[in-house]
Amino acid sequence: MKPVLLSFHGNGVLGLDQLEETFEVVKLYKEKDPEATIQKYKDDVVAINCTVSHKISRKLIEALPKLQIIATFSVGYDHIDVQAAKDNNVVVTNTPDVLCAETADTGMALLLAVSKRLAEGDMYIRVGKWLAADMPLGVSLEGKTVGIVGLGGIGSKVAKRCAAFDMNVVYYGPREKKDYPYKYYDDITEIAKDSDFLILTCPGGEATANLIDANVLDALGEKGFLINIARGSVVDEPALIEALQAKRIAGAGLDVFAKEPHVPEEYFSMDNVVLLPHIGSATVETRTKMGQLVIDNILAQLAGKLLLTEVKI
Ligand code: DGY
Repeated sequence: MKPVLLSFHGNGVLGLDQLEETFEVVKLYKEKDPEATIQKYKDDVVAINCTVSHKISRKLIEALPKLQIIATFSVGYDHIDVQAAKDNNVVVTNTPDVLCAETADTGMALLLAVSKRLAEGDMYIRVGKWLAADMPLGVSLEGKTVGIVGLGGIGSKVAKRCAAFDMNVVYYGPREKKDYPYKYYDDITEIAKDSDFLILTCPGGEATANLIDANVLDALGEKGFLINIARGSVVDEPALIEALQAKRIAGAGLDVFAKEPHVPEEYFSMDNVVLLPHIGSATVETRTKMGQLVIDNILAQLAGKLLLTEVKI
């Protein structure tokens, strides 16, 4: 029997064809009873292919004695117990770099959507409101301060784009990055206070859980907008809903949520919020590159070659 690849998803546009020759590809997402399928193949699973919505726990990792690699179709890996993987000599790979520009573009799309009220404008026409009255005004980006939370691969691309929009770029993170010309803050409340737009681009996980809480939202203030293209876990979601309802912040553009694909219904009736179904990297070109990286990492591991994008902890 060929080694088994336990595939939690279809690897996007590219699919899994390139892996069929080497692996018995078990398409878990097509199985009626995924748990029973895992039990059936558990002793032969060598590789896992997953993405952000699949929790890869210590329990699962330790139930697969031959597991060598977990390849996630995402830059984020907070859904994987990487410490458990390390403890069990399992390597983890992700898809950095290839999706940074795309995800930054999604951040810009949300920034423009909230400042220019684009989603509301579209609805305004569709439901015939324009016939009765003009739209409320938006707010300008030029000259405004944008606070970027996490100046990594995606954050630095957002910074570059915002600078091209003649915005004043500042950033928050665990450490100052002297290579960049932007002002650094080591205090999340202070950066929120000074920002007109706060854009979250940091990794998820324990270190950033609920980083944006009621105090930070209050510091952002009634003219401030929050954009989240990071992880739902970075924001205290009930606090955000409350702040939006009470108009203690001006609005939000959200691509990520705490319990995806479930989105709190409170958002649905808010005209100061733009919602996206976690599509940060979702274009044909970028998803193709991500899928190829997943394949190349898995094949490299099996061939004993150097991994392309290993997660190091
Ligand atoms: C990822 O790949 O981790 C991001 O969520 C893309 O939006």
